[in-house]
Amino acid sequence: MCGIVGYIGKEQAAPFLLDGMSKLEYRGYDSAGIAVMEGSKIRLEKCVGRLDALRAKIAGDMPVGTIGIGHTRWATHGRPCDRNSHPHADESGKFVVVHNGIIENYLVIKEELLAKGHVFLSETDTEVVSHLMAELWDGDFESTVKKILKVIKGSYSLVFMTEHEPGKIICTKKDNPLVIGLGEGENFIASDIPAIISRTRRTFIMSDGEIATVTADGVWVQDINGTPISKKVFVVNWNAEAAEKGGFEHFMLKEIYEQPKAIRDTMTGRVDKENETITFPELNWTSEGMAQINKIFIVACGTAYHAGIVGKYYLEQLARVPVEVDIASEFRYRSPLIDSNTLCIVISQSGETSDTLAALREAKKLGARTLGVTNVVGSAVAREADQVVYTYAGPEIAVASTKAYTTQILAMLMLAIYVGRLRNTLAEDRAKELVRGLGMVPEQVHELLENVDQIKVFARQYASCEDAFFLGRSLDYAVALEGALKLKEISYIHAEAYAAGELKHGTLALIVEGVPVIVLATQSDVYDKTVSNLQEVKAREAVVIAIGFVGDENLKKYADSVIYIPKTDKYIAPLMAVLPLQLLAYYAALTRGCDVDKPRNLAKSVTVE
Ligand code: F6R
Repeated sequence: MCGIVGYIGKEQAAPFLLDGMSKLEYRGYDSAGIAVMEGSKIRLEKCVGRLDALRAKIAGDMPVGTIGIGHTRWATHGRPCDRNSHPHADESGKFVVVHNGIIENYLVIKEELLAKGHVFLSETDTEVVSHLMAELWDGDFESTVKKILKVIKGSYSLVFMTEHEPGKIICTKKDNPLVIGLGEGENFIASDIPAIISRTRRTFIMSDGEIATVTADGVWVQDINGTPISKKVFVVNWNAEAAEKGGFEHFMLKEIYEQPKAIRDTMTGRVDKENETITFPELNWTSEGMAQINKIFIVACGTAYHAGIVGKYYLEQLARVPVEVDIASEFRYRSPLIDSNTLCIVISQSGETSDTLAALREAKKLGARTLGVTNVVGSAVAREADQVVYTYAGPEIAVASTKAYTTQILAMLMLAIYVGRLRNTLAEDRAKELVRGLGMVPEQVHELLENVDQIKVFARQYASCEDAFFLGRSLDYAVALEGALKLKEISYIHAEAYAAGELKHGTLALIVEGVPVIVLATQSDVYDKTVSNLQEVKAREAVVIAIGFVGDENLKKYADSVIYIPKTDKYIAPLMAVLPLQLLAYYAALTRGCDVDKPRNLAKSVTVE
């Protein structure tokens, strides 16, 4: 996730910017840059790579000036390279901007600006903002920023500087974080508190739609209509480590709570709420092309493999193409039957997993069309697959994958709706219904994450158990697999997931008094059958925790306890049903004193076979 810093005051800006950016390194980045007001001119320095590369570039020739902005970039639009690094300027160099987020309508704006003669240097969405600033400049900094906000759509934290009004920095935000730090004769801007706590602990958090004018002497906040807003200043008492985790005890918990935003960002530019359709401008597939595809392989490892299983249900049911899901380390050695009418989708958060990459290469060698679904722009999967769909979860630091998984299954659902419409296997009305449902997900996920006390109680209650079972049918089974993996990898409790109908073919022998069994019951077409299986384990005196939709009173009759998730479409349910499972695993691991973010024997990115 990009990191933003800004300084205006009495000291040199560049050393603070570099230090602040280093405190945001935990957010993940692939390039860095700063812009400093040197006299009356803005000097821009940026390059791909770590902060040390930027430091080396300006060593002995640091920009001199007391006003500046800095940025660590986590690539979303355009690969990591010098040109795509922030800050971005217009061609005069007088207008400069840094950005965190996604400008959804940047292509339309870019075309208009190109027609007016603007020359673009990068492939980023952000660069349109600096050109827009030059285009809309009306002699007043605040007024110009307000005009920009009326044009751009999407999610953003934006920080602007201009040579025309050198004594101020203006910033604003929507759906991305921004904090202001207050000093004596100096003020600070940052994406996150760690960047500023070495210099001030007096801060306030910007809210969506607010515009702050920051000078050395003060900060004025207003809305787009010019109405002044008074902000409540608070004193941060976190230490640096706690600040990195945004006040959460672990990165895993922070990442679980980042899911509403990760989901919203992954939908950006794809879920077209106005026309109630799904678009994938990066794919541009046609009905003719899709009619030729007669087989899809989905290949991945671990959690990404589980996302692939969800994807199989989606693609088979909505797009009516046969799908095989394979573990990458198996696929690469088993001579899969592939031809040019096969589409091979590889899913990988990191885009660097060795087996997944080998599987991708094998599929290409055998003549398949390939698509990478990855979270890291410019990763090996992104470079080597014929086409890429990015998930925009932001960097995932905890070893156990959470927000990457939800964005992967979201990507698969959007893809299945898209392909289903192209192949005409999904009725327009049904597609619209799904798109409407998707539009509600970020808010519903947020709501669910605000009410987790019951989950904490269950996790503590069952943290001492030796075994746990997860059951479900259809998509619930696919989610159960992920629930079991989460529990075992971070709490070390032995956990198994079963297709509920399969239990009685052997594993039912393990169900004895007091064994916790988590039963997912969100799939209407197999609901009754799942409830029968629930009763089977209950009859063996298992402790049953059911997961179902709000309002499902029936479950209370059979289960010991029920965790309710917001009511949604059966295809959207996995996006919500997995959340209690992630939280159960997290709080069980916490109770058992496990190293949640770094479970034993595991690594975040498995780049060896
Ligand atoms: C489990 C987990 C792993 C990864 C797997 C693939 O929580 O994170 O199972 O899903 O190692 O990694 P990527 O998605 O980077 O290919």
